[in-house]
Amino acid sequence: MRRKIIAGNWKMNKTPSETVTLINELKPLVESNDVDVVFCVPAISLTTAVEAVKGTNIQIGAENMHYEENGAYTGEIAANMLTDVGVNFVIIGHSERREYFAETDETVNKKVLKAFEHGLTPIVCCGETLTQREQGVTIDFIRQQIKIAFLNVSAEDAQKAVIAYEPIWAIGTGKVATTEQAQEVCKAIRECIAEVYDQATAEAIRIQYGGSVSASSAPELFAQPDIDGGLVGGASLKPDFGKIVNYK
Ligand code: G3P
Repeated sequence: MRRKIIAGNWKMNKTPSETVTLINELKPLVESNDVDVVFCVPAISLTTAVEAVKGTNIQIGAENMHYEENGAYTGEIAANMLTDVGVNFVIIGHSERREYFAETDETVNKKVLKAFEHGLTPIVCCGETLTQREQGVTIDFIRQQIKIAFLNVSAEDAQKAVIAYEPIWAIGTGKVATTEQAQEVCKAIRECIAEVYDQATAEAIRIQYGGSVSASSAPELFAQPDIDGGLVGGASLKPDFGKIVNYK
């Protein structure tokens, strides 16, 4: 039985001091023994956030990292910098990173490998555009994203990974995928993992849905057999996130 994982992606929102205020507001609302709760916050707030969640069930994630160990990469953050301050998770290959910062399936793969090397759990994002969905190539496209993202990743590591299926047309649009659409793709992702690895790995890996998740859509989405929680944008900055965590 997989444990659900519900993560907030704060994106480029909240200053470090606002982070403390929001975490203090959300802390009592996201208490849960049933699910893993992760707040992914901007890099500059990671240290503050780790401090602010001490003694709670909340874990902290980064929104990105570089795939090199260290070196001349002005403005970038390395995996060991994340672990050094107590970060456990890192979002990799979010569609906004792919669109605005030229991330590719290949850089996603390098980052996934680097994250595991440092004991970080990657939240690996995939998702199709509206055009791809309309052309009927969604599953093929997602399978390709997943296969490349997990190239040379051992089965042992893959079992620990989190995959976030985020259809691009559903992100920040208020247009959530239907339960059937989300389940269909998450199931296909699990089947792809079974093909690449084995059934045990497919059963262990956690697959989230992301894209306009709200307190009202979460219960039905998270009840699907292949959806193990959510990656939540806008609603993770509001008290609503408490309702999403306690969706049952
Ligand atoms: O990573 C979460 C995300 O892209 C979904 O954002 O605002 O549609 O929940 P939102």
